[in-house]
Amino acid sequence: MRLSRHSIVIIGSGIAGLYAAIKLSQNKNNNILLVTKSTLRESNSRYAQGGIVGVLPENTHDSIDLHVQDTLNAGAGLSDPEIAEFISRNSSEVIADLITYGVNFDKNSDEKIALTLEGAHSVRRILHAGGDATGKSIEIALSNHVENSSNIEIYQKTQAVDLLIDSKNVCRGIIVLNTETGKYETIFASAVIIASGGAGQVYSNTTNPKIATGDGIALAYRANAIIQDMEFVQFHPTALTMKENETRFLISESVRGEGAKLVNSNNEDFTQKYDERGDLAPRDIVTRSIFFEMKDTDAHNVFLDTSSIEQETLLKRFPNIIKACKDNGIDILNQNIPVSPAAHYIMGGIQISANGRTSIPGLFAIGEAGCSSLHGANRLASNSLLECVVISRELANYINDNPKNSFMSQDASINHIIDEYDKKSPLPVKEISALISALKNIMWQSAGIIRTEKSLTEALQFLNSLKNAFDREYICSSIEEYEFRNLLIIAELIVKAAIARKESRGAHFREDYPETCENAYHSYLQKEELLVNNVLNVT
Ligand code: FAD
Ligand code: SIN
Repeated sequence: MRLSRHSIVIIGSGIAGLYAAIKLSQNKNNNILLVTKSTLRESNSRYAQGGIVGVLPENTHDSIDLHVQDTLNAGAGLSDPEIAEFISRNSSEVIADLITYGVNFDKNSDEKIALTLEGAHSVRRILHAGGDATGKSIEIALSNHVENSSNIEIYQKTQAVDLLIDSKNVCRGIIVLNTETGKYETIFASAVIIASGGAGQVYSNTTNPKIATGDGIALAYRANAIIQDMEFVQFHPTALTMKENETRFLISESVRGEGAKLVNSNNEDFTQKYDERGDLAPRDIVTRSIFFEMKDTDAHNVFLDTSSIEQETLLKRFPNIIKACKDNGIDILNQNIPVSPAAHYIMGGIQISANGRTSIPGLFAIGEAGCSSLHGANRLASNSLLECVVISRELANYINDNPKNSFMSQDASINHIIDEYDKKSPLPVKEISALISALKNIMWQSAGIIRTEKSLTEALQFLNSLKNAFDREYICSSIEEYEFRNLLIIAELIVKAAIARKESRGAHFREDYPETCENAYHSYLQKEELLVNNVLNVT
């Protein structure tokens, strides 16, 4: 197998990975390798619509305290106030920095930055670009910069398949598979940064693109890093309801922020029945309201009525949403949009500090793969892109201030991992697509928006049967097999954490334990065991 050495390797080219690469490249002693499973510009980030939170000094209606309060309220008792304050305080600086890299945030007619509103925000504070193409605008600006940086090398179509952890529990590098040539490579690095995004593909119904299979979280778990809060999966209330598809197109919450209303199949406004904040209640509440309303009215979806928004505003603010709806036969200027909830974001992930350090020396995580405890039990809309950039910048500062020399470790534990991937590829598992579909379906049915002990226990048993049908520890024979190996880990982590949390909180709703218990706890998971701090004895 080919061996190479870099000072830093970054897994993933979403906004977190790209921004970290740019900031690290400012130290010309760093030689950085960015590996990405698909093409450079493909990621969850690319599809972000609503925008990015910015507490801008010129916005006199807003303040850091107010943003922190909104974040903590949405997080349902599990967001860390210090992290929330830290992220908020840095927001205006990182926004200004993104603008210097060429991100063109939308402006009002007075040339001031335009701000929109989303659920659970007390004021307008969300910046957007290209109307409803914020993620794409940022992703393109940052990847252009990365491509022009002399000390960043890029491997596209390259999947990270394992971490190299030595016998002292230090991360020394990664193993990657070039998915076009089928060749493996060992990459040694003094810092390994996981920026591989979320895991929406663990559900049959998701807004996340195909790449979102939780690879980084699964690799970290295999390496025995601490993983946190996996029971908290955010289901977005309004994904376009259309024919079966791998990814559900999102109808941004900012459409409701601009005045659209949810109505049921009888054209009745129903959200106030569930929460007085109505259409703009926190995301978990609106999602459950839609779920129960669909059940009550025996319908597959509810509708978004945009008739109160002026057509000129709709055309200017939501050009991509209008196009996607049109492609699916819906003219939103004259028709209601059929919508229903879909898995969207994972609040849990690899436990990290404010500068992206994990529980394993040499291993860092940023973006959706990490869990800094900003989002707690339910993420406040548009806080994710902000967290991506603030923590990536902090991590780059930390690594630039603490340089280490990479070396090619010949430790026995590392050699063992390399040897495993040097073996002949096993025969492919024939029914791999069916196994993946079965996993996604059970997760949607039994560990989705509404959970019970019975549904979760059934899901766990089913996952065990899938594990028995798929006997792969290291080398696999295809991208799908690696993704399935990782999805199985993610699914098990979600289900085990959801069983352990015998209460309802934020996005985790237990029909058998509908109340929130007072003493919140974070659930920590490590390989082969479930460590829960201060577990509540709720019966
Ligand atoms: P991603 O952008 O997901 O990037 C992950 C990268 O890792 C990709 O390049 C992927 O190919 C690569 N990768 C994955 N596995 C491997 C592997 N094994 N080897 C190599 N590479 C790998 N948040 C907001 O704040 N505001 C919004 O408006 C917003 N809108 C959204 C709309 C949609 C439709 C979706 C799906 C999400 C939205 N979110 C939004 C959430 C937000 O987009 C994501 O949380 C955020 O972009 C994650 O960024 P990231 O850099 O961590 O990961
Ligand atoms: C949206 O535009 O509704 C998504 C925003 C987010 O996920 O933060």
